[in-house]
Amino acid sequence: NAASKGTYEFYMLKEIDEQPGVMRRLSQDYLDENGTPIVDPEIVEAASKADRIYIFAAGTSYHAGLVGKELFEKYTGIPTEVGYASEAGYHFPIMSKNPFFIFLSQSGETADSRVVLKEANKRGITSLTMTNVQGSTLSREADFTMLLKAGPEIAVASTKAYTAQIALQAILVKAVGEKLGKQEAKDFDLKHQLALAAEGIQEIVDGKEKFDELAKKYLIDSRNAFYIGRGVDHAVALEGALKLKEVSYIQTEGFAAAELKHGTISLIENGTPVIALINDPVTAELTRGNIQEVASRGASVITIVGKEFAKEGDDIVLPSLNYYLSPLLTVVPAQLLAYYASKDKGLDVDKPRNLAKSVTVE
Ligand code: G6P
Repeated sequence: NAASKGTYEFYMLKEIDEQPGVMRRLSQDYLDENGTPIVDPEIVEAASKADRIYIFAAGTSYHAGLVGKELFEKYTGIPTEVGYASEAGYHFPIMSKNPFFIFLSQSGETADSRVVLKEANKRGITSLTMTNVQGSTLSREADFTMLLKAGPEIAVASTKAYTAQIALQAILVKAVGEKLGKQEAKDFDLKHQLALAAEGIQEIVDGKEKFDELAKKYLIDSRNAFYIGRGVDHAVALEGALKLKEVSYIQTEGFAAAELKHGTISLIENGTPVIALINDPVTAELTRGNIQEVASRGASVITIVGKEFAKEGDDIVLPSLNYYLSPLLTVVPAQLLAYYASKDKGLDVDKPRNLAKSVTVE
């Protein structure tokens, strides 16, 4: 039974561990043996006609949308905006001539997203819902649906739906980019990359004890913490911070690595944990500089670094992956750090206080 905990103490860890399987399933179901996307041609047609793509979501799904924006712009050339559904509902963005809306929602029931979708329907804007739940409200009310196929996600803190949303967006991106004749999209070896992602996630979860040690050493006695990164690592920094906050109650901020020095660095004290993410080839060295800035002010820095950028003394070295898909790997240490920080503090990992799995009020 997919929804049973089996030998796991908490669903969250089970769901983190399921991510390699989710990557393989998405690859198998949405890419043929040559790596050509298998996506409803009507969806591909509608998205490729768009002069602008708008992604709306909440919480973790919003963070997956931030990665989706980078993917869309890189491989399709279509300008892409990401918005909090709760904000867009009542402050609707100025529309381009031919917008295409994507709703990202694990549950498909988030009320904030529904407000935006209703307005989109009123205006006749074409919409797609990417959701884990077939027949959910956002799925029924949008023109199109693509399923995340992550299997039931029970833990309140979302893990495998996030990685599924990134992979599924990449699949659509490849289909749309190819349709538009983009060479980058044709050369995007997504099937291979998703196989590498599955292997890479497996390697990370196989070494999970390391994150238990790091959480005990740096996180559980801390009041606050930071995640920093640039480019797609900034998007993962936001998600890593949310994960840690949600389940461990450690106040954590995700920051664009260089922005910290413009004010917030005043919060760095002796021993403040700063988790630094480095996968962006363009800014890797600059982020090293930002690490120095916080380290020299007493921060305890944990580095999570793609193999190509690794240096002596880095804490976690990630297997190689396409930069735009690197969040599929980088987020896993963040998920595991959050899990162990919560568990080691003796908290109810799966049911953090004040939170619900899906929020059906605005
Ligand atoms: C709630 C959950 C979050 C989730 C968000 C969006 O706040 O606690 O984990 O990311 O809703 O949910 P959705 O189902 O729309 O992805």
